[in-house]
Amino acid sequence: MYSEKVMDHFNNPRNMGEIENPSGVGTVGNAKCGDIMRMYLEVDETGVIRDVKFKTFGCGAAVATSSMATELVKGKTVEEALLVTNKAVMEALDGLPPVKVHCSLLAEEAIHAALWDYARKRGIVIAGLKEPVADVSDSAAPHAPS
Ligand code: FES
Repeated sequence: MYSEKVMDHFNNPRNMGEIENPSGVGTVGNAKCGDIMRMYLEVDETGVIRDVKFKTFGCGAAVATSSMATELVKGKTVEEALLVTNKAVMEALDGLPPVKVHCSLLAEEAIHAALWDYARKRGIVIAGLKEPVADVSDSAAPHAPS
């Protein structure tokens, strides 16, 4: 049911934890399953994400997608991090079962929420970044199949 990569990131999550005094932090949840994800970003003065950590109070797929998402955004600029969509995370994990797609949306939205917080604190605008939603339901998500 799950790819080897999903199982690997579930069993050995990368970048789990928190960052003290982060450049940006974002928390999102899905009211349907009750799962919550929080992302912390450390961004340097040139706009590059130097460190990223996550905490997930959720299912195994949420842990695996957050772990992979942190690996994908680390070292990228904040603009490049916007391109790390739930689709990109799922592809990097060799896919997820359809019922678990919403878990990857949590990862995408948590990154966006942390970027939003970073931009707000710095007083800057990141082109293409939308205000995060509090409840990441499948219908509210930009990349969910309609
Ligand atoms: Fe809700 Fe996975 S079941 S995030």
